[in-house]
Amino acid sequence: MPTKDRFFLESKLFKEITLNYDNSKILFVGVHKYSSWYATIFNNFTSNTFFTIDTEFDYSKNKYGTSFHSVGDFLTHNFNRRFDIIIFNGIFSYGINEVNLQKKAILKIHKLLSNDSSYFIFGYRDHIDLKEEVNNLIKNKFRKVTFKNIESDLIVNSDNNHKFSFWRLN
Ligand SMILES: C[S@@+](CC[C@H](N)C(=O)[O-])C[C@H]1O[C@@H](n2cnc3c(N)ncnc32)[C@H](O)[C@@H]1O
Repeated sequence: MPTKDRFFLESKLFKEITLNYDNSKILFVGVHKYSSWYATIFNNFTSNTFFTIDTEFDYSKNKYGTSFHSVGDFLTHNFNRRFDIIIFNGIFSYGINEVNLQKKAILKIHKLLSNDSSYFIFGYRDHIDLKEEVNNLIKNKFRKVTFKNIESDLIVNSDNNHKFSFWRLN
């Protein structure tokens, strides 16, 4: 049984991405067993390329083998490309926890987006994962937008205040 935030990600966000994007480069930060099949679907059934990175999860040891996955730390990994969409869900408080590291992550996302039309899709638990200093940096570097017909800041799981917000380069 998926949580409400995962249901939103899979059934709403992914649907909009597949309907609206072709030949795009997507980076999905952090992969767990329950999200390990996402890359297989995108890379086999759409023209988009779905790149993934996780410090721990290794596709090569998993049945969903892919050459688009890196095992490593998002903060230090040397990406040799930029991305049209970066999906950054459930990473703050789940590995990138300290304010300084969170700020580093935001600056890295900023650097890795291709252009003004690229999206930073941010999933987090409001008042738990996000400190004011980090929130201010996001507002300084990005502008808040809607993603297709989906409003930003929608609480998708009221049990844990899980939100998605959508941003473009400032
Ligand atoms: C709560 S899970 C979320 C997974 C995925 N983003 C999703 O929405 O399904 C957090 C994952 O992020 C990974 N992670 C945490 N910090 C990371 C980092 N600095 N670089 C890469 N992966 C990281 C963890 O290993 C874990 O698999």
